[in-house]
Amino acid sequence: MKIRILSLIAGIGLLAGCSANSTHNADPVEEKINSMLSGMTLEEKIGQMQQVNDGFFGDDEATKQAIREGKVGSFLNMVDAKRVAEFQRVALEESKHGIPLLFGRDVIHGFRTIFPIPLGMASSWEPDLAEKAMRIAAVEASSMGINWTFAPMMDVTWDPRWGRIAESCGEDPLLAAEFAAAMVKGFQGDLSDPTAVAACAKHFVGYGMSEAGRDYNTTYIPEPLLRNVHLRPFKAAADAGVLTFMSAFNDLNGVPTSGNEFTLKQILRDEWDYKGMVVSDWGSIPEMINHGFAADTKQAAEIAAKAGVDMEMATTCYAENLKTLVEEGVITETQIDNYVGNILRVKQDMGLFEKPYDNHVSTDTILAPTHLEVSREVARKSMVLLKNKGNTLPISKSIRSLAVIGPLSDAGRDQLGTWIFDGQGEDSTTPKEAFEKILGSRMNYAEGLEYSRDKSTKGFAKAIAAAKRSDAIIFFAGEESILSGEANARGIIDLPGVQTELITELKKTGKPLILVVMAGRPLGIGAEMDMADAVLYAWHPGTMAGPAITDLVFGDYSPSGKLPVTFVKGAGQIPFYYYRKNTGRPATENDVTYIDDIPRNSKQLSLGFKSMHIDYGITPLLPFGFGLSYTEFEYNNLKLSAHEISADGTIFVSADIKNVGNYEAEEIVQLYIRDKVGSITRPIKELKGFKKINLKPGNEKTVNFELKAEDLQFFNGKEYVIEPGDFYIWIGPNSEEGLQDTFVLK
Ligand code: NOJ
Repeated sequence: MKIRILSLIAGIGLLAGCSANSTHNADPVEEKINSMLSGMTLEEKIGQMQQVNDGFFGDDEATKQAIREGKVGSFLNMVDAKRVAEFQRVALEESKHGIPLLFGRDVIHGFRTIFPIPLGMASSWEPDLAEKAMRIAAVEASSMGINWTFAPMMDVTWDPRWGRIAESCGEDPLLAAEFAAAMVKGFQGDLSDPTAVAACAKHFVGYGMSEAGRDYNTTYIPEPLLRNVHLRPFKAAADAGVLTFMSAFNDLNGVPTSGNEFTLKQILRDEWDYKGMVVSDWGSIPEMINHGFAADTKQAAEIAAKAGVDMEMATTCYAENLKTLVEEGVITETQIDNYVGNILRVKQDMGLFEKPYDNHVSTDTILAPTHLEVSREVARKSMVLLKNKGNTLPISKSIRSLAVIGPLSDAGRDQLGTWIFDGQGEDSTTPKEAFEKILGSRMNYAEGLEYSRDKSTKGFAKAIAAAKRSDAIIFFAGEESILSGEANARGIIDLPGVQTELITELKKTGKPLILVVMAGRPLGIGAEMDMADAVLYAWHPGTMAGPAITDLVFGDYSPSGKLPVTFVKGAGQIPFYYYRKNTGRPATENDVTYIDDIPRNSKQLSLGFKSMHIDYGITPLLPFGFGLSYTEFEYNNLKLSAHEISADGTIFVSADIKNVGNYEAEEIVQLYIRDKVGSITRPIKELKGFKKINLKPGNEKTVNFELKAEDLQFFNGKEYVIEPGDFYIWIGPNSEEGLQDTFVLK
């Protein structure tokens, strides 16, 4: 091997360094924590390590008594500002140590004002916008007494079967990392402010690789993949000051992640020096019994505690067993002090000891017009134009008549997506309402199908009649909220029900057919894309789906979203992700013999001995980073400040992007590299940067990127390295196209 390993830098760069909140040692906060701990009994300490669901102790009187006795450190799912304030008062004024409580809730993509699902937000490639949205979510949630959210979820996934892909930011570690950091900042804001909501980096770690996309399933992730991909968003969140982490459900390489010393202790605490607190996922400690990793709840408590889970969510392995484990000398009280110290530090960082608990922000903020406006903006920017034959879109507001059809056309709740405990369908503006507002009686409405899984064709005739009366058809296809999200895995990722059949019938009318897809995952929509003239992928857009869609359909704005995840042709192609390896037998399009072209009595042993599918070929339906616009952008003049870079150097890379079409529009410009030869094999492309620009027709901008040698660092199974050698570099509009050059790392 000719490659010289330049640096052993596990302590710097992408996956190391100090966490933002690692400066606590020996400061007054630590002294306060230590003095509190020294006055607490073991039972009271264990009480802090317990989080329970609302109602766990019985009625409110029983709950107060449990708080007074120090039996609980946190509640989840209490969303009544008055009750929360009263319980907090009891904790601060009537419990022995006056330790405040954390009130947790899954505020994932909005509280009452719902923003697009995270996968949609990621399609905006605008982390600042997600920060703004999550700040609003925090303002609304904190007005109901919530001071901790279990978000953002930053699990990287390649699997559209996995229902929780909806909650993810897609397949790329850099994009996921940027969004993770931004959302943490949004939720937490200024910690001294009453609207601050502690964020939670979840699910640590590897949960997105659940085999076959089946939720809670086993994961096998080799250490290079774990470090080069899955850990990166978590490190970014830690660096952004996230106050809490959540251990996951999955078994990672044989060790459940809620009892995994390698990830929770070695990586999180020792390598990253993370000082925040770790909460288990709901029941993930006793589930180690099902995993076959613990014999009983006592052993499960021991394993989780030794790995460093500070707080147990919902179940009571700690409450029932930790005292005995300490008395038996299996866990030391010093260890318990560390865990409780982590919990107290979060409460201290949040200012909960000092903040007035009954002085909540006004609930007038809920669904405030400014919040709805941001929701509309995020929704608009999250939608991705996948096809636009002959400029079918935009359509004119003075169109004579438009048929609005489809199961997702007027589904207030189902446009909100998964994980909306507090969002309400009645708050939504649906596409039907938004189109009607603009078109009035020029809208011909017919639902066609009552819901996405509807198998009845009884509504077809009306829908076809509406289509025939209209100048164009807009069909709202997709899947309702319950088909994605936790536990909602699908083995078949096509449009459910008889939607395809209805689309086929509508196509026969010969009218321009626009498909808007609302879904929690990238669906297999190849056949429907072929039939449609235009396709807008809207994900689950949230409260303001309707106005955001009319903004785009009528051309007030150009679509600007780009895919944060590869679209596969069908479930059999999974996993298919852009940073795959080249293999020893890479195929080109010319190498593919498709199944229908194989001679009836072929005597061939193989169809070319190449890595390909004889039905899907070698390309996905749509590549990562892809998205069309109403205008066209031209990429020119790729320039590198140098074609050689030293191990501590930087090169500046730029390209000129010109709007050569007729619409003002935003473009997401992407920077990719490929490390040609490595001490372990390297992906065929890696995203290293992205920028969003806005250009008026005819205008041009030079987009600059800075690429540091340390951005080329990776973990090779033994250590972090920056290896000399040749690289390709691209600036382009997606992961498959772009201007290409090369450089050498010396
Ligand atoms: C289980 C989920 O995995 C997690 O994401 C969520 O925060 C908790 N339940 C609490 O609801």
